[in-house]
Amino acid sequence: MRILGIETSCDETGLAIYDSEQGLLAEALYSQIELHAEYGGVVPELASRDHIRKTLPLIEQVLDQAGMTRRQLDGIAYTAGPGLVGALMVGAMIGRSLAYALDIPAIGVHHMEGHLLAPMLEENPPAFPFIALLVSGGHTQLVRVDGIGRYRLLGESLDDAAGEAFDKAAKMLGLGYPGGPEVARLADGGEEGRFVFPRPMVKHPGLDFSFSGLKTFTLNTVQSERDEEGLISDQTRADIACAFQRAVVETLVIKCKRALKQEGLTRLVMAGGVSANRSLRENLEAALKKVNADVFYARPEFCTDNGAMIAYAGCQRLVAGQLDDLSVNAYPRWPMEQLAAV
Ligand code: KG4
Ligand code: ZN
Repeated sequence: MRILGIETSCDETGLAIYDSEQGLLAEALYSQIELHAEYGGVVPELASRDHIRKTLPLIEQVLDQAGMTRRQLDGIAYTAGPGLVGALMVGAMIGRSLAYALDIPAIGVHHMEGHLLAPMLEENPPAFPFIALLVSGGHTQLVRVDGIGRYRLLGESLDDAAGEAFDKAAKMLGLGYPGGPEVARLADGGEEGRFVFPRPMVKHPGLDFSFSGLKTFTLNTVQSERDEEGLISDQTRADIACAFQRAVVETLVIKCKRALKQEGLTRLVMAGGVSANRSLRENLEAALKKVNADVFYARPEFCTDNGAMIAYAGCQRLVAGQLDDLSVNAYPRWPMEQLAAV
């Protein structure tokens, strides 16, 4: 089965074609980062309008890349949620209509399931069951995964998501949007140990997270380090970025180890934008090696939003005979535990 995947839930227009036999055939991504950068964050209405401009040309591009015509598609998967409703509607409308015109099945895919399954696109995919750490701009969750659609939420952030915390820390440090990669870059030049930030909730039992206190701590540190003219040195900014990143990474690592132990599992899948963070990858790998557990993640471009993960997830469900009716589905909020098992 050859499935077209359409991702338009936020600020990237991602398209891909996944073949159930041959794997990924084509993939294209248009990032709206420049469009939103001057506002310091995603402007939903601008995002929707840009998806309208980009989706159809990118569909032609991936078909071209795969050497296929529309008629050779066997199904269409589009992100149905969670995300910005206007942005979701664009992909849902185009995906559902195109499938109707071509008389092929369509399916709405859960964005976080897409992220969670993205490591399956790599050479050494994880076997079920495993623990998934989902860390994106909107979510921080630990999930027990027993198969596709067999998800049990073990813990989640009670306030800000990890990616959101990175984005807010970036703003406080005078960096651009999206903040995660910028904070990581600045942290590379920082001195370990000059500032020590709290590790939120690690002393609490359980697997929930909280990152809003870290945000306040970052803000207070930045304010107290300013001189009489309100200036702060580049080295101090780097040292703060380093301490912030360390606190987030250590908190995530501690909770991942705790989740594996609680569930008696030895495989951890890390997915979502923040899983592209090098320090998180290195620290998690080192920590899990000590307890004989393995870490799996996607290549960096498949950690952040992309069409390949949606084409893959949709393909698994369509191959299993699942499909949607003719309605156009967009759910800004959509608990992953509601998904049907495959
Ligand atoms: O998964 P994603 O592309 O979109 C959502 O579904 O939210 O995640 C985007 C988030 C942003 O908050 C961004 O700052 C963060 O992932 N991010 C990173 C890195 N790359 C992206 N955070 C830390 N380090 C990175 N290298
Ligand atoms: Zn995402």
